[in-house]
Amino acid sequence: MSNTNKKIILTGDRPSGRLHLGHYIGSLQNRVKLQDSYQQYIMIADVQALTDNFEHPEKITQSVYDVTLDYLSVGIKPDVSTIFIQSQIPELTELTVYYLNLVNLGRLERNPTVKAEIQQKGFGEGIPAGFFCYPVSQAADITIFQAELVPVGDDQVPMIEQTNEIVRRFNRIYQTDCLKECKAHLSHASRLVGIDGKAKASKSLNNAIYLSDSPEEVRQKVFQMYTDPNHLKVSDPGTVEGNVVFAYLDAFHKDKEEVENLKDHYRKGGLGDVTIKKLLNETLQELIGEFRERRESINKDDLKEILVEGTRNARVKAMETIEMVRDAIGLNYFK
Ligand code: TRP
Repeated sequence: MSNTNKKIILTGDRPSGRLHLGHYIGSLQNRVKLQDSYQQYIMIADVQALTDNFEHPEKITQSVYDVTLDYLSVGIKPDVSTIFIQSQIPELTELTVYYLNLVNLGRLERNPTVKAEIQQKGFGEGIPAGFFCYPVSQAADITIFQAELVPVGDDQVPMIEQTNEIVRRFNRIYQTDCLKECKAHLSHASRLVGIDGKAKASKSLNNAIYLSDSPEEVRQKVFQMYTDPNHLKVSDPGTVEGNVVFAYLDAFHKDKEEVENLKDHYRKGGLGDVTIKKLLNETLQELIGEFRERRESINKDDLKEILVEGTRNARVKAMETIEMVRDAIGLNYFK
């Protein structure tokens, strides 16, 4: 954790429910791979989660521990990666306020991720300003840790672009180089679809397989998966495109050649849905079984200690950056 020669990664998730396989394939897997060669900070973004859940804070406070456990279950090592809670780093709030001056409303309006979320959420009494501005607070999240790499899903790319615009503007206006630009580290896998084959897997659409699902839940979800509605008899030729079972086999089955052979067979006819679902079930049971084993080996009383320690370490870095920021703007009156 204290190896200062390593490049820094900052990444995180909103704690508003448990994490699912879409999170795993989109970024958790990368975080596990990268954690030994980088200095990795993983933020549980509870302040960001409040921007669209401010009326139900209990949902967030509860899932902070669920998400931490999800992290540990996939193999994130708390003595290697720094896991911390956003709201406990007040310097982040301060930096966000300085950044708000550097972004105009028109630019925020054009952020495609926020735009899509606004449509999806149907905010009744109008868009909360906090929600509208969360990309600015996310820019603070990334830059306060001097992060150069951000392992996220492709939906977060607009956030990285906006962060770098803020960095350039800040450095230019305040004649400094104290802020660093960053890059997204994208997963090579494409976005994971939901078991219904409609949009991407998500909690709100109730179409996701969770990292903490039981063997029976996993099995049921696999057997519910949308395949090819015209593939009625085993002997019928089937379609692979849009077929959720193949999308998941592509994402999770280790033997790519076997998957390609199965696709050919399915296209020709003679391969039944039950056979491919059985294979996918085995594949996912093995993966989620590994998660379950780690999860069960974790003493729940240690979780709080992990978060306290991680947050303490993260704050040291945040305080270092905020000092430079205040210096650059000229706010260190009492120095
Ligand atoms: N916006 C991310 C999400 O929707 C969560 C997040 C908050 C984040 N701060 C971040 C991701 C900083 C990467 C870097 O899940």
